[in-house]
Amino acid sequence: MEHFISIDQLSKQEIFQLLEDAQMYQMKKMKISKQLFVANLFFEPSTRTKMSFTVAERKLGLEVLDFHAEASSLAKGETLYDTVKTFESIGANALVIRHDADQWIEELEHITIPIINAGAGTREHPTQGMLDLLTIYQEFNTFENLNIVIVGDIKHSRVANSNAHTLQRLGANVYLSAAPGYEDESLPFPYITIDEAVEFCDVVMMLRIQHERHVEKHDTKQYLEQFGLTKEREQRMLSKAIILHPAPVNRGVEMDSDLVECSRSRIFKQMNNGVFMRMAILTHVLQKWGIINENLIKEC
Ligand code: CP
Repeated sequence: MEHFISIDQLSKQEIFQLLEDAQMYQMKKMKISKQLFVANLFFEPSTRTKMSFTVAERKLGLEVLDFHAEASSLAKGETLYDTVKTFESIGANALVIRHDADQWIEELEHITIPIINAGAGTREHPTQGMLDLLTIYQEFNTFENLNIVIVGDIKHSRVANSNAHTLQRLGANVYLSAAPGYEDESLPFPYITIDEAVEFCDVVMMLRIQHERHVEKHDTKQYLEQFGLTKEREQRMLSKAIILHPAPVNRGVEMDSDLVECSRSRIFKQMNNGVFMRMAILTHVLQKWGIINENLIKEC
């Protein structure tokens, strides 16, 4: 059985089913009527992803096992694999994992309980990608022919990786915009400037400058004016165009601080959508693994 590692694993039909399920969870209170244990194993810092998984799990009635990497036996040298085997042995029914290594999943392939990827190095962040899709879909009701630009530190972004291919698969025209040194040549999409992007894009998806992943430190003082979303550029966006950002935001670096909560911004909507999309993903994975069936998901 496959762990939930990438949006690429999902068919278009499954993607649209998850969008529908997430919107159903936004409207109805639903719980799983079976005792199940889930652990959120975050080996890298997180606020949104960890907390929205926790809220999603509790809303579904799942028992959340508390784990703090810094207070665990990792401090005694235990490996990722042995930590995960421990949770499998004590009866966890599913795991949500974030780790800074790109390939962590490869050493966990034979774990016999489902694993959901909550962020893998610079490679993938599929639950963020899915909540971004939900936010775009709720705005435009389609992905076909939307012009979407992903702007910022593309090279170090797992969000860019998860989103670009999927958005193209769903019919959007995907563009990238990055300062010199922040491009990712492995992504086969055209690069445009932020000044070009604001003139015709329906979605301007900003990314955080990921200082913690940079070997060489870049000067960010001039970044906003040269490559970021200033208030002047926001004024030139299409009337219906929206701004996304996975957050956390470096206010005043990749975008002007005042734009974080402007009328075009859907940044906090993305966070809210994250809870419901993660409920949809959790139930999708538990059903796929045969741990629950749809009769156990009940309105309450
Ligand atoms: N967007 C996101 O993954 O945020 P966190 O790092 O706070 O989880």
